[in-house]
Amino acid sequence: MEMDLSLEDFLELSEEEQLPYIGDRAVLYAQQFDRPALDELCAVADRCRALAKSPGGAARMAEILRYRMALNFFVQPSSRTFMSFNTAQACLGLNRMSVRDLAISSMSKGESLVDSVRTFISYVDLVVMRHSDELAAPAAFWTATKAHRRITLPDGRVVPVPIINAGSGTRQHPTQALLDVYTLQRSLRRVGGLDGKTLLLAGDLKRGRTVRSLSMLMTQYPGVSLLFAAPERYQMLPDITDALDRAGVSWRPLDNLVDGLPLADAVYMTRIQDEWDKLDRKGFVRADHRFVFRKEHLDLLRPHAPLLHPLPKRDELDPALDYVDDDRVAYWRQERNGMWMRVGLLLRLFGALQALDEAEAATRA
Ligand code: CP
Repeated sequence: MEMDLSLEDFLELSEEEQLPYIGDRAVLYAQQFDRPALDELCAVADRCRALAKSPGGAARMAEILRYRMALNFFVQPSSRTFMSFNTAQACLGLNRMSVRDLAISSMSKGESLVDSVRTFISYVDLVVMRHSDELAAPAAFWTATKAHRRITLPDGRVVPVPIINAGSGTRQHPTQALLDVYTLQRSLRRVGGLDGKTLLLAGDLKRGRTVRSLSMLMTQYPGVSLLFAAPERYQMLPDITDALDRAGVSWRPLDNLVDGLPLADAVYMTRIQDEWDKLDRKGFVRADHRFVFRKEHLDLLRPHAPLLHPLPKRDELDPALDYVDDDRVAYWRQERNGMWMRVGLLLRLFGALQALDEAEAATRA
């Protein structure tokens, strides 16, 4: 849909109301991905990781977007999302640059976010952004639709410079949810994948943008049920539980982790998101002991059930878990999966899936 709204009117819309304007021209919200898109992305990520195993395949993959330039605009702390987007872009040959500190951009001189984004897209073909303001990514998308510069995709479509939300405020982290789905589908492959499974989500569900986006994606998997283990003050907010109700996804709150462990086909831990607490004192809020996954809890976990965490982690996970010889401890693999899922996402966003077919065929020949 053409952007016929002012910035203010666009930002007044709910996420769902914005979807027709966004289409597949940007990645702002988890709700943009239906089941066929999720299945396609998982399959493309698998294909890319297989192709990259041979030097010839990796070299061909690095030709696919060699003529594109990306900006990674991360003005909120990040380790893995920033690095995995960088490495995913490198896998596809994208040139890339980054802005990680507003203090060294002209926003410190009073330039507005929309003017800054308009400046970025004068130079680059993609903006990946992390920002503490949940309205920053939709504002950037609006700017891209209004800016003079367009890019041409391989099928001839002329589109605004794509914006990818790499974490916005406390609400959404859609690309993390994509890599979480990819990790879950891979981990649960031997037991039929995610459909019909029970997912236990624990920690700060109120402000955990990863669990919020992942919960939205669970509406695409028939028969999935969700257990939300969190202290009352960190329980999942009604905007998500209402969406789950509308989609017919069963969910229930739990006031401890242990009760959910024997029921779960997968466990997804999160840390307390105390960066939003504006604490006066130094140090981090400790996890409530009822929501800490200890090493001995592996004994309560079903044999096929992976243990995920978006990371960074703190005291909600026993450090002894890091080095156990147990395939169910999946969070370090989850990080690497993120890179491949982002490779797939970039290919899809740039309409370059045919180039992947060609790189595979040339590598096989
Ligand atoms: N999972 C995640 O978003 O990690 P970073 O904050 O390190 O990017």
